[in-house]
Amino acid sequence: MKFAISLALSAVIATTATIATAGGHSGNPAAKARQAHMQLYQHNLGILGGMAKGEVEYNADTATAAANNLATLSSMSQVGYWTPGTSRDDLGEETRALAAIWSADSTAGAIGGQMAAAATALAAVAGNGQAAIGPALGPVGAACGACHKAYRFSAN
Ligand code: HEC
Repeated sequence: MKFAISLALSAVIATTATIATAGGHSGNPAAKARQAHMQLYQHNLGILGGMAKGEVEYNADTATAAANNLATLSSMSQVGYWTPGTSRDDLGEETRALAAIWSADSTAGAIGGQMAAAATALAAVAGNGQAAIGPALGPVGAACGACHKAYRFSAN
């Protein structure tokens, strides 16, 4: 039984290695990682936004899980993939990250800190009923928007 498990594990490791190699062919790894992080923000925010608007039926456990995910994600260290030299000026269309993120007077870190605080506050009340979601979600969405406005490339 132990042998079967270790064989299965080897297969998983081998597959992961293949994916990692293949990934190198399409896109800068740092840009891909931060975009994936953002997709997780979007997914969890979407669940809560749907409940706040009444488009998705409120469920305390689902709401709390999504809010906890936002709080956890926003407090993770992201230094490994906000790498200087990977802005839109450097990589072109692979990324929408503006070079100003890495400037000395960048407020991106501060906005990230505000988002983490807002997400933690949201997680504390997300289980308290549908009406609690909207007001606590507002400051989280405002942090997303503030950072995108300042530091994400937009064609408009
Ligand atoms: C501190 C700044 C900052 C915060 C906070 C932030 N974003 Fe972003 N976001 C960015 C930047 C910069 C990009 C462009 C990244 C790239 O293309 O390399 C981005 C890209 C995205 C994308 C596109 C990802 C892709 O696949 O190309 C989505 C979706 C997104 N953000 C959602 C969110 C949501 C939802 C929140 C809040 C819960 C949020 N972001 C908070 C800076 C931020």
